[in-house]
Amino acid sequence: MVPNLENLPRTIVVERRDAVPVVRMIDQRLLPYEEAYLETSDWRMVVDAIKTLAVRGAPAIGVAGAAAVMLSAYEAADFDDFSQRLSAAAAEIEHARPTAVNLAWAVRRAMELAADMARDGGEEPAAIAEALFALCEEMIREDEAVNRAIGRYGAALLPDNCAVLTHCNAGSLATAFYGTALGVVYAAFEQGKLRRVYSDETRPVGQGARLTVWELSRAGVPVTLICDDMAASVMAAGKVDAVVVGADRIAANGDTANKIGTLGVAVLARHFGIPFYVAAPRSTIDLSLADGAGIVIEQRSAAEVLPRPIPGVDVENPAFDVTPAHLISAIITEVGVFAPNDLEKELWK
Ligand code: MRU
Repeated sequence: MVPNLENLPRTIVVERRDAVPVVRMIDQRLLPYEEAYLETSDWRMVVDAIKTLAVRGAPAIGVAGAAAVMLSAYEAADFDDFSQRLSAAAAEIEHARPTAVNLAWAVRRAMELAADMARDGGEEPAAIAEALFALCEEMIREDEAVNRAIGRYGAALLPDNCAVLTHCNAGSLATAFYGTALGVVYAAFEQGKLRRVYSDETRPVGQGARLTVWELSRAGVPVTLICDDMAASVMAAGKVDAVVVGADRIAANGDTANKIGTLGVAVLARHFGIPFYVAAPRSTIDLSLADGAGIVIEQRSAAEVLPRPIPGVDVENPAFDVTPAHLISAIITEVGVFAPNDLEKELWK
């Protein structure tokens, strides 16, 4: 039972057309009904794609952020004030979305490379832009390798013949390729351990209903779509053996921000005695925050909740919530599986 991963698109690639750098992303706003790609050499378009969720998911927006820095470097290379232009663009790119730390992490990684080259060898701007292109290619390869490692570690935790419930899309579409939570699913499926995935719809944007079910069905993994308010009854019926979700930012104590609704799923999982796993790369862990109280939660447009306003009705639309560490059975990373409280001690000892 090998998942048909060749049926899944590459979420984001960097390539050259007649020597011009191009960033190519599947437009996730149009899925599941239309498979179309955005192609651009303009870093501002990549920022717009991040803000409007054409590209989304913490690792994928990290790569997109680095790719935007790369495009801005090519643009700035023709100007005397290269460094100032690059820094101004990087600041805008880094703040395109606030919650997923992978975006800031990737932008800073790109900017550190640029700063090192400018300082050490006094490299020309054009050479820095070329190096940033190579860095993006490397980050894309690295992300897939990291996800495959997360998948192997996570699959080992699951029982035979299991059904997994997931929330949002922490799949291949949320990463360069393969996925974090769905990486665990793909690895378990390949090992013949996984019977089915229950995908929460994930209101309001429907990452589960539109993206997770599309991705899993293309990969040939049995998937059942449920509305968010059905998770409790599916668990009560004994249909779920484990919950596996992704993460946008994990604080030093293991508190985890992920798509809105994840907290509710974690509370339910605890109630029904179902293990609740978070699968995420180390780049999602933010040791600068002691706990989840410091995580900035993105507030998005009311129109995502209520497309046509109703006079007199206020709408809230926090895009993420924070699951406290005590509700998380384990955090699955590319270097192993950790109790939330042990993250800092084990990973950066
Ligand atoms: O708003 P989104 O779609 O970017 O939110 C995505 C999530 O919350 C994912 O679960 C998270 O980024 C992990 S992706 C591997």
